Amino acid sequence: MTRKAFVIGHPIVHSRSPLIHGSWLKAHGIDGSYEAIDVEPAALPALFARLRAGEFVGGNVTIPLKEPVFALCDSVDPLAETIGAVNTLVAKGQKIHGFNTDFMGFLGNLDQQAPGWSDDLEESIVLGAGGACRAVLVALKERGVGTIHLLNRSPEKAEAVARAIGSPVRAAPWGAFAELAPKAKLLVNATSVGMHGSRFSDLPLDRLPKGALVTDLVYVPLETPLLADAARLGLNTVDGLGMLLHQAVPGFEAWFGIRPDVTPALRAAVEATL
Ligand code: ATR
Repeated sequence: MTRKAFVIGHPIVHSRSPLIHGSWLKAHGIDGSYEAIDVEPAALPALFARLRAGEFVGGNVTIPLKEPVFALCDSVDPLAETIGAVNTLVAKGQKIHGFNTDFMGFLGNLDQQAPGWSDDLEESIVLGAGGACRAVLVALKERGVGTIHLLNRSPEKAEAVARAIGSPVRAAPWGAFAELAPKAKLLVNATSVGMHGSRFSDLPLDRLPKGALVTDLVYVPLETPLLADAARLGLNTVDGLGMLLHQAVPGFEAWFGIRPDVTPALRAAVEATL
């Protein structure tokens, strides 16, 4: 029987997930499908009924459903609880399990593009305290790195997130960047700055140590002004597209039983749609 998976959201037309999963299904010759379904929050219970009835093996969840799905899942992974978002559903019989693969995507991307990045990592700086930062913080915490300094333009939000995630995350004022940077071997941008070519006006990147890695969650444009500035300074950079590709891996494996690879060809295919 054809195994069917989906991505649900509203709107959903711009999702790259059908392209990613579709190319893996084809590459592995799997009798399966992956379709985008536009689902408004009010229509979520009906979609869950179809899932429970066995029509689908599971699927991905995107905006604005990542929080509403919590109430409908039979179980939710504790890390998804901490991140505050479920992006992947797996049906086991009539039970629906929710988890979050964004943090795995963050780790998978850096592991592939900058092997060894987390070895002896004593201090990191993460910028931003919105929805995207929690997956990064959980990822770094899971990897067991040292102190994670969380800086946000509005400091009270960084303090709240640091409290919610706990040690080793520590909130620091935005202005502390210059002082913290010399020891930070990793800088992560989890703010929306960089979209449409916007840039930070007050981030002295030249204070980062030689060999530091700078990575951005923004992937449109692929080379954000932050990454361009970092590269110009001779720092290592990893763009954010890989996180999108790698977050898809655990879902595909759970639904179709094969762990797929993020290949240069897949990356190029998705890049062509940006
Ligand atoms: P997301 O879900 O993508 O994280 P968000 O929840 O809207 O989006 O959060 C956007 C993040 O980008 C926030 O951390 C925001 O800082 P504030 O909490 O101070 O709003 C940050 N951000 C947006 N514009 C910024 C700018 N010009 N400089 C610094 N940070 C900025």
